[in-house]
Amino acid sequence: MTEQDFIPKPYTNTLKQGKVTWESPSNIALVKYWGKRDPQIPENPSISFTLSQCKTITTLSYKQKEAISDFSFDVFLDGEKKDAFKPKIETFFKRVEQYVPFLKDFHFTIETKNTFPHSSGIASSASGMSALALCLMSVEKLINVEMSNTFFNQKASFLARLGSGSACRSVEGDLIVWGHTKHVAESSDLFGVKYPYAVHDHFKNYQDTILLIDKGEKQVSSTVGHNLMHNHPYAASRFQQAHDNLEKLKPILETGDLKRFINLMESEALTLHAMMMTSNPYYILMKPNTLEVINRIWKFRENTGLHIGFTLDAGANVHILYPESEKVEILNFIENELVAYCKNGEYICDQIGFGAQEINN
Ligand code: DP6
Repeated sequence: MTEQDFIPKPYTNTLKQGKVTWESPSNIALVKYWGKRDPQIPENPSISFTLSQCKTITTLSYKQKEAISDFSFDVFLDGEKKDAFKPKIETFFKRVEQYVPFLKDFHFTIETKNTFPHSSGIASSASGMSALALCLMSVEKLINVEMSNTFFNQKASFLARLGSGSACRSVEGDLIVWGHTKHVAESSDLFGVKYPYAVHDHFKNYQDTILLIDKGEKQVSSTVGHNLMHNHPYAASRFQQAHDNLEKLKPILETGDLKRFINLMESEALTLHAMMMTSNPYYILMKPNTLEVINRIWKFRENTGLHIGFTLDAGANVHILYPESEKVEILNFIENELVAYCKNGEYICDQIGFGAQEINN
């Protein structure tokens, strides 16, 4: 598939008004996407678990305009008008217009809400942009009824990528690869694909407990961080490492080797943060409590032999990943020892999920 494949033929059907709703989950990367070039092409492949509880629910209402002018839309978060979100959506609309050429035909009202606390530091761009991309696809499907489900999902992921890279991994579940690598058949820089190889039962309902260490806005946005990978002294070896890690992950996922899984996942998380610390300008997103939690996880793992591991996003929060079979002991440990390091004692229990869903209005 190339970009051209996502440019539709002239539409034959027209729409007056209506609305569509999608809920789309967040995702947590095991091999991290860090570094991109125009137009939202990743410098390395990544793979993520799709989550199930942390999600964005978006309703897109469309009304045909009298005259075709510029983009016209309003955005609401939790029922409140949010003009601050408009520039990001405007940029998204500009990037995707050639693929969904009906954008200027309508006035849109975008009503969105998240199931996780706002500014929790949980990336709402992945779930938010994928929900919006899916809504646009539902509108396109009403205009162009003959569209296969496979194409629908592929194009939704393609559009979501143009909103936020990691969003392309939130359309489907439960393990999604984005970025071309010879180690994963059919993988593409343009959209996410379902991981096509065997996955051991140990990963069924895999748990992700997210400790909210710091709830403030990020000091450095992901987009700025990605750009700092241009001319980064370690960029080439980091990008190669991501390919190597995808290759290494295949037998780990197949055999359910949790020790090696944790090793690879934690190494990826710390490498991501090492890239931030070694870019110029350099910066640190981990907080003292992030390190305290990591050390306690390591100690607990050593003492109990349980398969608890962590990963990090571009922020201070810690994602604790573990198999469902060890849920009781590990949640006990989290509640007794780790919650004290969370802002206001807040954490979120999530688990691997199966992707976005359309909601009937
Ligand atoms: C650290 O997808 O938020 O979470 O493409 O600029 O919107 P943009 O960046 P974004 O980057 C996320 C990076 C990450 C790792 C990952 O999810 O793979």
